[in-house]
Amino acid sequence: MSKIAVLGSGGWGTALAVMADRMGHEVTLWSAFEDEIAAIRRHGQHTKLLPGIAVSPTITLTTNMACVEDAALVILAVPSFAIGSTAQKLSAYLQPGALVANAGKGIEEASCRRFSQVIEEALPQASVVVLSGPSHAEEVGRGVPTSLVAACRDLEKAQRVQDLLINDKLRLYTSSDVIGAELGGALKNVIALAAGICDGLQMGDNTKAALMTRGLAEIARLGVKMGAESYTFAGLTGMGDLIVTCGSMHSRNRRAGILIGQGVPPAQAVQQVGTVEGYLAAATAHRLAEKEQVPMPITEICYRICYENYSPREAVQALMSRPGCHEKDTVWF
Ligand SMILES: NC(=O)c1ccc[n+]([C@@H]2O[C@H](COP(=O)([O-])OP(=O)(O)OC[C@H]3O[C@@H](n4cnc5c(N)ncnc54)[C@H](O)[C@@H]3O)[C@@H](O)[C@H]2O)c1
Repeated sequence: MSKIAVLGSGGWGTALAVMADRMGHEVTLWSAFEDEIAAIRRHGQHTKLLPGIAVSPTITLTTNMACVEDAALVILAVPSFAIGSTAQKLSAYLQPGALVANAGKGIEEASCRRFSQVIEEALPQASVVVLSGPSHAEEVGRGVPTSLVAACRDLEKAQRVQDLLINDKLRLYTSSDVIGAELGGALKNVIALAAGICDGLQMGDNTKAALMTRGLAEIARLGVKMGAESYTFAGLTGMGDLIVTCGSMHSRNRRAGILIGQGVPPAQAVQQVGTVEGYLAAATAHRLAEKEQVPMPITEICYRICYENYSPREAVQALMSRPGCHEKDTVWF
């Protein structure tokens, strides 16, 4: 068994730590916040984000980043706004040849870069693997069968992550399509927000199915333009993650969308729900689509709802009133 350090003791980091501990790994869970670690220690669980999931005393809880020094795998599981700063801090502690898996999803706001690019720049001594796919922390924490993808241009590094984390509750596939895995994971959050808005407006199943299918088509359109493989978007980090995020009440993106559809102002809805990566991703995706000159009508409308006070009901009308076109011309295959 190996030493695994998980950075970020929110819902996802805690669930991954619990899973790795059950496999028999020597696990450390790090938080930037002393009070968060103290609360997990006191209650034996993360009562706020993962209630009812026991955090075993065999998991070392710490705020000391030196815990990564001799880890076989460092998992970054912080929200997207904290990935860059956490990677910067990590730099002082990480040994040459270290293996870092980023489990956070998003695109860096300031630069519109994918997070593996941001982390690779901050940590030139490390190999960076993307860990993504359909996974609610609440379910991974309960040992519900789940499948993820470990993606790295150097497939051997992805296989090392696979070997370390695969178990009878977590099936891990490898991929060398880092761009596709990251863009799928980040941009589906915008579509999940839109799916929630549809639910909040009490639209029907037809609307949601169309939104998800056409949402995936525009994510893939952008992804392929940016160098991703088209098949990735039909896989776990594309279609798989879209399905799980658009259909579940575990999804904070969808929950925020429902509130927005019910008339709550977007910024207030996000504040109410917590980490809503789709809200931030709507802004970065809007800029990326403009830069790459790729039409992304659903993402664009979502951006306008989030940041330009556009009415959700008018937005649906605008999407439905566009001129018709051939489906073949607007999918990614
Ligand atoms: N929750 C899930 O089911 C899930 C599943 C897959 C991927 N993800 C991704 O994982 C990432 C983390 O999601 P989450 O659900 O755990 O979020 P969360 O809201 O549960 O995480 C909050 C935690 O982030 C940490 N944090 C906050 N600010 C920080 C800072 N400035 N520096 C360092 N750490 C800070 C704290 O430990 C805090 O508890 C997101 O990008 C999310 O998209 C989440």
